[in-house]
Amino acid sequence: MNNAIAATVSLLKQRLGDTPPAIAVLLGTGWAPFADQVQGAVDVPYAELPAFPLLGVGGHQGRVRAGRIGSTPVLVLGGRKHAYETGEADGMKGAVRSLAAWGVKLLLQTNAAGSMDPAMRPGALMLVSDHLNVSQRSPLFGEPGDGRFIDMGDAYDAALRAQAHAIAARLGTPLHEGVYAWFLGPQFETPAEIRMFRQLGAQAVGMSTVPETILARHAGLRVLALSLMTNMAAGMQAEPLSHAHTLATAGAASARAVALLTAVVQGLELG
Ligand code: HPA
Repeated sequence: MNNAIAATVSLLKQRLGDTPPAIAVLLGTGWAPFADQVQGAVDVPYAELPAFPLLGVGGHQGRVRAGRIGSTPVLVLGGRKHAYETGEADGMKGAVRSLAAWGVKLLLQTNAAGSMDPAMRPGALMLVSDHLNVSQRSPLFGEPGDGRFIDMGDAYDAALRAQAHAIAARLGTPLHEGVYAWFLGPQFETPAEIRMFRQLGAQAVGMSTVPETILARHAGLRVLALSLMTNMAAGMQAEPLSHAHTLATAGAASARAVALLTAVVQGLELG
């Protein structure tokens, strides 16, 4: 463990307790209101945790919140460092490794994405079954040792996905499942790129999540990821793509997304 991670773990223990929540939820665009569901919340700004990143994009708060959803302890990470900010995919490395070193078991990721499946309209929710690392960047570049050659065969935990589907069905919330293509950004895709990703077998496209999944699997965490469709992907809708449009659709759809996430956090059995 490097010094920044050791210092971060000791700060997390000091502020939030020796026993970590089993579940850490990483909030992406549109999912921020989930943090309001946390009872008995205690916050620690990323800025106070040496292994955590300083964040750039507006709307991301950069704060760790610990508390409970019902009787389930949870840790909420408000905000990611995105690879499009620097070109480096390892912006969340220290954060993910600190969670693992503290004893967190599951990284439950959320994001906003563009839909490439005509059956998934803006506002639809998708459980990520697998991903395409289109950019071919890895947060493990430069990592020493054989531990870097991680198996990605079951990166998005199949048993937990089945549980999430059962929870969504109980709630009556439609939950799609599909492959997420990670596009480095920050520009949106071209219609030709979207046609390519569709042919390659992806249903959703976004600019996050994949680096954190790789980091989490490398650190021994289980991973689950939920995507909120904020638009049809480039060339599939008349309206031009913009961050403002993403935020507006995400805002309108976030109540249902947050209700599902709340139920999933409460209902998951990690075994
Ligand atoms: N492309 C990439 N990232 C996104 C999109 C998109 O269409 N929508 C929301 N995040």
